[in-house]
Amino acid sequence: MSLKAIVLAAGQGTRMKSTLPKVLHEIAGRPLVLWILDAVADAGADDIAVVVGHGADKVADLLPDGVRPVLQAEQLGTGHAAAVGISALDLDDSDDILVVPGDTPLIRGEALAALAADHREASRAATLLTTDLDDPTGYGRIQRNANGDVVGIIEDKDADPSQLAITEINAGMYAFAAGSLRAALDRVEPHNAQGEYYLTDVVALLVQDGLPLGAVPADPVEVSGVNSLDQLAAADRVMRRRINLGWMRDGVWMLDPERVYIDADVVLSEGVRLYPNVYLEGATSVAAGAEIGPDVRLTDCKVGEEARIQYAVAEDCEVGARANVGPYARLRGGTVIGPEAKAGTFVEMKKTSLGARSKVPHLSYMGDATIGEDTNVGAGAITANWDGFEKHETKIGDNAFVGTDTVLVAPVEVGDEGWTGAGSVITKDVPPGDLAVERSAQREVRDYAARRKRRAAEKRDQE
Ligand code: UD1
Ligand code: CA
Repeated sequence: MSLKAIVLAAGQGTRMKSTLPKVLHEIAGRPLVLWILDAVADAGADDIAVVVGHGADKVADLLPDGVRPVLQAEQLGTGHAAAVGISALDLDDSDDILVVPGDTPLIRGEALAALAADHREASRAATLLTTDLDDPTGYGRIQRNANGDVVGIIEDKDADPSQLAITEINAGMYAFAAGSLRAALDRVEPHNAQGEYYLTDVVALLVQDGLPLGAVPADPVEVSGVNSLDQLAAADRVMRRRINLGWMRDGVWMLDPERVYIDADVVLSEGVRLYPNVYLEGATSVAAGAEIGPDVRLTDCKVGEEARIQYAVAEDCEVGARANVGPYARLRGGTVIGPEAKAGTFVEMKKTSLGARSKVPHLSYMGDATIGEDTNVGAGAITANWDGFEKHETKIGDNAFVGTDTVLVAPVEVGDEGWTGAGSVITKDVPPGDLAVERSAQREVRDYAARRKRRAAEKRDQE
């Protein structure tokens, strides 16, 4: 006797008004279906089938190892979908089975575990998760008899006015005894307003058979589904609050947690400090004491201890311990900022490695460059890495000094302790320890200001 699960995720999600299958829409950077799969796994399900239909291949590709996709080619209703799910599982009639929709990402593992535990303790044929809503419109309503026992579920579209007034709704999440579910599904008929095989009809069939049924109350927020983009945004907000609260409890400081956006897979350390308008996305990690923001977006970045990043955008980059980035910096893929190094104000880097303690403080573009340690790159220095057809590399050694407004025309190398004069266009390698200057010699015009004034005065007198 074990706990198995079916996730119903074949529907199109027409109300999303999107070409993406509904369950692939993301909250906190993770697709809806993966959130519910986490909850189902947390509840202890050891065998999970996901019923796919719309965008089947895309959904199936995303599923973790061990989770079984099963195709429901035509969406004939939730009852039909559950039967398709059962066909993919190695079920024993004595097993228990959780059935959940793929579009309810906020449900917690603990809530599903409690549902399964309650179901088992009472040895029921079915246990429903239900909740009371001020506005139950659209949901199936729970029907109870005079004793308060659950006797059926009536769908919104099939309900009469007295049934519509019921505020206890079906959350669409259930625990079933596998044998009872299988037998009842065989008897479900599509005689209803939508012409569908309703999973909800199983409830009345089990009651007819005299089998024990029950209901467990749920948190209305946790069972709320995502059917439209406004519901997606609302769910995203709830999830991000949970994530931020979790990090604050782990010692991450946030000036304004409502304006910090941390994806599900991000890893933070105690003592991280986050200012407003910070977006930490993908597989980003931030080490202890680092200070991020305001206005920073990091995607798949690794930030070292006590680094400081302000007003910056970076993806697929590493920022070393105690390094400084920004204000107003853009770090593109493959950039590595060494420990205590600096990519300063209005600096863009692409696929560039900046050695320990080296500084590019102002107004530079460094692309496809390897820069050594303790080197200074002056204001406005630029690598000309693209010749219109190909990219080329620039190498700058240790302890080098690249003068202000130098253009490094790649491929080119400045050796260790090499220097370039301000304003130079460097097209040839600079040997270690040498200075390269490439600019015309300065010319002096004596008393120029006085001569200009005299000339202007003469012109005025003639007029
Ligand atoms: C369903 C319940 C309703 C409940 C509500 C809770 C039924 C008949 N109704 O209604 O009582 O209050 O959920 O949110 O079950 N799906 C498939 N294949 C299908 C049909 C649906 O995989 O053929 C999937 C959908 O992708 C979705 C889930 O099943 O993830 C629920 O289907 P949906 O059409 O959204 O049901 P509701 O009308 O919301
Ligand atoms: Ca739904």
